[in-house]
Amino acid sequence: MKKQNFRTDHAHDQKFWSGMQKGVHHAVQNVSLTFAIPALFSAILLGLFLWRRYIRWNVQCTSKNRLDGKTVIITGGNSGLGRAAGYELARRGAKVILACRHLKKADAVARQIIKKTGNEDVHASELDLGSLQSIQEFATHIKEKERHLNILINNAGYMGPKQSTEDGYERCFGVNYLGHFYLTNLLKDLLAKCAPSRIINVTSDSYVKGKIEYDDLPMKSYNIYKAYARSKLAQMHFTVEAHRLWFPDVVMSFAVQPGWVHTDLMRNWPGMSGNLLRMFAEFMFKTPEEGCQTIVHCAVADSLKEYSGRLFENCRVIKMKDEVANMEACRKLWKESLQLCGLDPDIHFIVDEHKECEDGHETLEHSGESQGKGSSEARSRKTKVTS
Ligand SMILES: NC(=O)c1ccc[n+]([C@@H]2O[C@H](COP(=O)([O-])OP(=O)(O)OC[C@H]3O[C@@H](n4cnc5c(N)ncnc54)[C@H](OP(=O)(O)O)[C@@H]3O)[C@@H](O)[C@H]2O)c1
Repeated sequence: MKKQNFRTDHAHDQKFWSGMQKGVHHAVQNVSLTFAIPALFSAILLGLFLWRRYIRWNVQCTSKNRLDGKTVIITGGNSGLGRAAGYELARRGAKVILACRHLKKADAVARQIIKKTGNEDVHASELDLGSLQSIQEFATHIKEKERHLNILINNAGYMGPKQSTEDGYERCFGVNYLGHFYLTNLLKDLLAKCAPSRIINVTSDSYVKGKIEYDDLPMKSYNIYKAYARSKLAQMHFTVEAHRLWFPDVVMSFAVQPGWVHTDLMRNWPGMSGNLLRMFAEFMFKTPEEGCQTIVHCAVADSLKEYSGRLFENCRVIKMKDEVANMEACRKLWKESLQLCGLDPDIHFIVDEHKECEDGHETLEHSGESQGKGSSEARSRKTKVTS
């Protein structure tokens, strides 16, 4: 009897302990789930927060220079970075011309800027960078109306599915680069009147992935990012070569990398990835007002002559990929581009006798400043755009 009782007790104990074990195991599992999930969630949030801080790290333009009496053209000035830069430069007293393909939109933005800044000298003008004819008409109109041009901001941009310009070029290459190249060439004489004026090419860090294959300009295996990166690389070569050829008799040229900015640029990116990117941009990217600071810096800051032909980010010069400044690559693109635009590859320009804008940017520069090492080289080549 006693033996039987002992067995029952023993079985009972065993049951009790295995129950306890299960209970503890369960509790540990619950506790770790209770802590692990929030910990993981917090780590993701912290990661996103730090990443956002990194993306949005931004340096304000500290120059207080005004632009009274100066004329500025901003392509794509009706939205995003162009609009924000237009506002900043109008606030500093410049005459601002927003060169946009939809005149109605541009007019509305011009009126908003006038209202906000009190500067009445803000205008909208029609320019479709996807049409060489439109560019030519715009340039003719500007040359008829303006006595000089101090700053040209080549800002407009396209990113999206494969499309062609009116003249049959792949749209990213045609609008972001070739259109601006043609426009700048057509406005060169006007820019030369206040030499050295400033051209600012709004590029992007994606240029490092760009590749220009001259036997595949239409880009048979099209990819949005690839096409965009190629156009930005072309803008970089353009900046470097414009400096080599035109500094200081015509322009100082700057490339600006604005960082990641929440604008309409990705509006044409299709599908789910497009939706996700736009959502991500809304929370994570800089505002256009933050993003335009380096453009404004290159437009107004003193002592930039020695940095002509260079790349800027966060209001300071940064190193560009070595291949960008490769003279052969830059010249080849320039020469091809002259042909694609139907410009004379032996185009000559004489600038000194046009110089009339004595109150040009020279007044913004510190006196006695170095002319930069490109000056004598450019002068010796002054009569020929291509060699
Ligand atoms: N946002 C970024 O994160 C970022 C980063 C690096 C570089 N960028 C560069 O910054 C520049 C400005 O872009 P955003 O970010 O401000 O984008 P956005 O808000 O989309 O502005 C682009 C502007 O370009 C204009 N445009 C497009 N095609 C044109 C054409 N054929 N002719 C004339 N204008 C045309 C657009 O006019 P519509 O409104 O009529 O289309 C718009 O005003 C672009 O060059 C872009 O590549 C942007």
